[in-house]
Amino acid sequence: MTLTTKFLGRTYTSPLMNGAGVRCTTVEELEALRQSSAGSFVTKTATREPRAGNPGHRMSALPYGSINSMGLPNKGLPYYLDYLTSLPDQGANNFLSVAGFSEEDQMAVLETIAASDFAGIVELNLSCPNIPGHPQLAYDFDATDKLLAKVFDRFDNLELGVKLPPFFDPIHFDQIAAVLNKYPIKYANSINSLGNGFFVDPETDAPMIEPKGGFGGIGGGYAKPTALANVRALHERLRDDIALIGTGGVQTGRDVYDLILCGASMVQVATAFGPEGVAVFDRLNGELQSILDSKGYADVTSTVGQLHTV
Ligand code: DOR
Repeated sequence: MTLTTKFLGRTYTSPLMNGAGVRCTTVEELEALRQSSAGSFVTKTATREPRAGNPGHRMSALPYGSINSMGLPNKGLPYYLDYLTSLPDQGANNFLSVAGFSEEDQMAVLETIAASDFAGIVELNLSCPNIPGHPQLAYDFDATDKLLAKVFDRFDNLELGVKLPPFFDPIHFDQIAAVLNKYPIKYANSINSLGNGFFVDPETDAPMIEPKGGFGGIGGGYAKPTALANVRALHERLRDDIALIGTGGVQTGRDVYDLILCGASMVQVATAFGPEGVAVFDRLNGELQSILDSKGYADVTSTVGQLHTV
């Protein structure tokens, strides 16, 4: 099996997993992922309290992807901790995505996790574009720096990664990397959806989705070049011991392979996982396997970052 990959000292049978958000909110959905051919899973981003999310029609398929303004609907942190800690390995190989709405809220979330038996990896979502009145934190480099300083001052043994928004300018790659390189974070996950995109429904001449006047996160094919750019740029700038997860625009095994060449050790699938369900992992594993075989790579780990020069 050449799809074996290493991530944070753990071994996974495949680098593929879901992206936080799609089909990972309930125990039933998480169980379907656990039984699937995905190498791991991440939960829907959990907040301290359960949330209904934004009202109205809040997600739509687009010609080449998706738009959403879900607003972090989730069952609350205790629900996900109960489930993860009930697993045979206390969730050791899995990811718990979390978000807070203030520094205090964020710290309280992490306190709860630290006090639990959860043995897995925590993903801090610093990039949700869909909460009215709450900007995407990672676009504010000083605020991100301040939060991480507080987090690592308090917790020195949480295995923690960050979910980043897309960045679009080399100076911003430099700035976020300089902040992340100061702290013992374990990985960065690039990218969240392309925040605050807009699409007009040709049937109604109205916005595709209702919350926030139609502005929402764009995923799917539209996101691939930006995801590759972010993974590549961070691979060039982050400390060697900070791993990368690549997320954005994965529809084929080639898309997975490209993210791995650019530096990703694991690859998440969100938009394509919606309509295809867990069968998407069977398909993508097969497609990736064929590519690795044809290119002569023995496993995923030896493929990471192997982008050729022109
Ligand atoms: O596109 C997204 N939608 N990214 C997030 O981080 C959260 C999600 C939502 O619930 O709105």
